Amino acid sequence: EPYDITEIPGADVLHHGNGILAESQENAARLFGSGATHYSTEGSSLCIKAMLAILKMEHEVEHEQERPFLLAARNVHRSLVDACALLDFSLCFLPSQEQANICSTRLSKEMLEKAILHCKEKPLGVYITSPDYLGQMTDIAGLSAVCKKYELPLLVDNAHGAYLHFLKQPMHPLDFGAAMCCDSAHKTLPALTGAAYLHIHRDYRERFEPYAAQALTLFGSTSPSYLLLQSLDLCNQYLSQEYPQSLERLVEKITLIKKELLSCGICVEPSEPLKIVLNTAQNGYEGTVIAEEMREFALECEYADWQSVVLMVTPENTETDWKRLRYWALETKLVKEIRKALPQKAVPSLQTEWALTIREAAFARHTMLPVREAVGKICAAETVSCPPAIPIAVCGERITEEMAELFLQYGIEEVCVCTDKWE
Ligand SMILES: Cc1ncc(COP(=O)(O)O)c(C=O)c1O
Repeated sequence: EPYDITEIPGADVLHHGNGILAESQENAARLFGSGATHYSTEGSSLCIKAMLAILKMEHEVEHEQERPFLLAARNVHRSLVDACALLDFSLCFLPSQEQANICSTRLSKEMLEKAILHCKEKPLGVYITSPDYLGQMTDIAGLSAVCKKYELPLLVDNAHGAYLHFLKQPMHPLDFGAAMCCDSAHKTLPALTGAAYLHIHRDYRERFEPYAAQALTLFGSTSPSYLLLQSLDLCNQYLSQEYPQSLERLVEKITLIKKELLSCGICVEPSEPLKIVLNTAQNGYEGTVIAEEMREFALECEYADWQSVVLMVTPENTETDWKRLRYWALETKLVKEIRKALPQKAVPSLQTEWALTIREAAFARHTMLPVREAVGKICAAETVSCPPAIPIAVCGERITEEMAELFLQYGIEEVCVCTDKWE
């Protein structure tokens, strides 16, 4: 592959560039309306670690004090917990209204304000995931107004929402005042797997940009793939030309198919524009059963669990794909073998008891135990089903009966717990 080069003379240096890569990242920043945009060839996972490193570097310069902590909505991707272990952050989980799934957290600006006022010390920032795996979006404008009031940066895991800035009515976290966010370009834009952005809002450029290159190089490879970088550069061209129109047409198509599915009797949940979220439990079937059925129709979902199937589409989906979906909608068990709705399973609100810090637990001696025997022990590694890679217990937390129930609900039978002196 002739373009599979790395940081050779003339090809610039990714995080300390002054040539083609710097120019390309500036183009991306203009397109997203950010204060600064950095490319990642190691996904949002790298950007999340970098966001925390930026906060920590800036904080140490100012304060040089005890372990930093974040206020975070509980449905974090495991890469945030990894970042906390590596950088020795603590997490204080924000409360959520009752929900039916670990993927979503319902957080209002009032709840955030109450939580901030409850803190004995000032957090380094507030961290949320929006959109989440089930296509739910958080009121980022509301939350960012609260964050501004208390001078806290709002960090958003926007891995699923890179496209949001290009909607007719832009809905990207930066459009609503987030201080920093990560976007997995590879999830919703035409970029190669692993390609992602770290964005810094214009208002926070002066404060955070001086640390960005150092933070990204702390965790990133010294051999970034130029294939991925070129796909990000090509993506700029696409975003600046036909993408907004293609996206608008796609959103219309999705709105139409959602109406068609509903008229067939299939339960479709409201969601962000590019996801089609089926509440199969409402139609009497587990999502995983329907995902299997869809495979017979050559349809592959993004995610399925006991209650939902999530489909993601792009402008690149072909007419054949759309035909397959329509054909499946006519033939599916959901409409041909009608059943009573499955009983609702609300996710219990998980009470956190931090027995160790995330870092202590992540590096402690550990062993695997059957879920029931792990109750009362300290979690040593985020045991997650992937997707959604959302930890039910975070390392350092004492495992409760409610967590054990949830592990079993998500098909997890063994958990990694700390041993020895931590028993
Ligand atoms: C919500 C969320 N955040 C972060 C990530 C990590 O993104 P990446 O795969 O680009 O590293 C994922 C991956 O699926 C995700 O779903």
